Amino acid sequence: MSQVAASAGKASPQAASPDTVIFEGGRPLVGEVEVRGAKNLVTKAMVASLLADTPSVLKNVPVISDVAVVRGLLEAHAVTVTDVADGVLELDPRGVKSAHFAEIDAHAGSSRIPILFCGPLLHQLGEAFIPDLGGCRIGDRPINFHLDALRAFGAELDKSHEGIRLRAPRRLVGARVDLPYPSVGATEQVLLTAVRAQGVTELTNAAIEPEIMDLIAILQKMGAIILVEPNRTIVIEGVDSLNGYDHRAIPDRSEAASWASAALATRGDIYVRGAEQKDLMTFLNVYRKVGGHFQVDDHGIRFTHPGDTIRPVVIETDVHPGFMTDWQQPMVVALTQAEGRSIVHETVYENRFGFTDALRQMGANIEVYKEGIASITRRVPRRPLEQAAVITGPTPLRGADIRVPDLRGGFSHIIAAVTAQGHSTVSNMGIISRGYEHLLDKLAGLGTSYELKG
Ligand code: EPU
Repeated sequence: MSQVAASAGKASPQAASPDTVIFEGGRPLVGEVEVRGAKNLVTKAMVASLLADTPSVLKNVPVISDVAVVRGLLEAHAVTVTDVADGVLELDPRGVKSAHFAEIDAHAGSSRIPILFCGPLLHQLGEAFIPDLGGCRIGDRPINFHLDALRAFGAELDKSHEGIRLRAPRRLVGARVDLPYPSVGATEQVLLTAVRAQGVTELTNAAIEPEIMDLIAILQKMGAIILVEPNRTIVIEGVDSLNGYDHRAIPDRSEAASWASAALATRGDIYVRGAEQKDLMTFLNVYRKVGGHFQVDDHGIRFTHPGDTIRPVVIETDVHPGFMTDWQQPMVVALTQAEGRSIVHETVYENRFGFTDALRQMGANIEVYKEGIASITRRVPRRPLEQAAVITGPTPLRGADIRVPDLRGGFSHIIAAVTAQGHSTVSNMGIISRGYEHLLDKLAGLGTSYELKG
């Protein structure tokens, strides 16, 4: 099988990702990859540009389809988005106007991003529309925290079969919002709405992920006044207007951890240029516990398999600074190669072990328990949705036909396919381009052999 490089550059990310790829496994991944701006910051930073009276410049923007979705939504609202250079976007909101719901619906695709347009559009235009929301199939993913917060600011909501229409009959006002759970999206919703609301907003039980801190840095550059206090409290003093920003997005810690786990699973050696130690500390502690090696330098982190065996571990996913739910799936693949029994307890989403079906088909020994496990160290109260996976290793993996279920599960399937002996046919690959830039190019650069099918 010959190595085939996927198309790179500024091609549409969807067009650059073939639906089905046949991988030849059984080789360690060795070499270097680069991670650029975090998907979960870049997309929100693009939305933040809507709040300004002048253009913004965003740097370190990856070529992923979630960026294309937000770009399409901004353009549907007459925001001018220009590629200034590779990875640099200029976003000019001066012509912003309402979009027809059918256009919003068409651009949103399966993304959940439209909900974050609400606050900025209510400030700029007095109205907004949210179509039925998609996102990865990892559970119900309700938006009740978002809607309750928007109502608290004074927005009026009108639900119909097409979605939800919002109006701000008068300027939105600061509010007290206490989140039932430190939701990333709902915290961003409050930030993006409160910065231009009249008066003070106090948000308690806020999410404090690095991407949220970077969004706060952007908003501060724009002229916002935001106090991050202890105990997950954020106080925002609303201002009348905001300017554009010039900002370099923080690197993608989910992608960095994905490549780190790929090095472990395939007994490889990967230098992740751009990986940021301070955003990966909890992951790095687990990596060290299982026996993985890493070396941090000024430009990135080198991840290597120790050469002999790796050890099992117990992990509980959690809100920051805990072990991210998005790190769990690639690590599970590595744990199929550990000597003994590992437990991964998922506490953030209700359906994030669906990807283990394919791993079992490839020979992994993984049992999923609906109840989750008890823990004394957790940061948030126990919720009914929890699940735990028990992984017993080491088990050799063999090639299989797999259909990618979601973004992180999909990356895990690819690592499994590369680890396995024999050929694996992986379909529905397009989902992975939502969050992984130039994936096939990167895999080819690390020594993977694959063929595009069809
Ligand atoms: N939740 C509610 N009601 C709401 C909002 C959230 O019940 O109104 C619940 C969710 O159902 C879930 C929990 O709260 O059980 C956490 O959800 P959160 O709002 O924190 O997640 P999110 O904002 O929808 C973002 C990332 C996810 C990442 C999570 C957790 C983006 C676009 N997505 O989702 O990223 O897993 O935070 O860190 O920022 C990914 O990158 O693959 C991904 C899924």
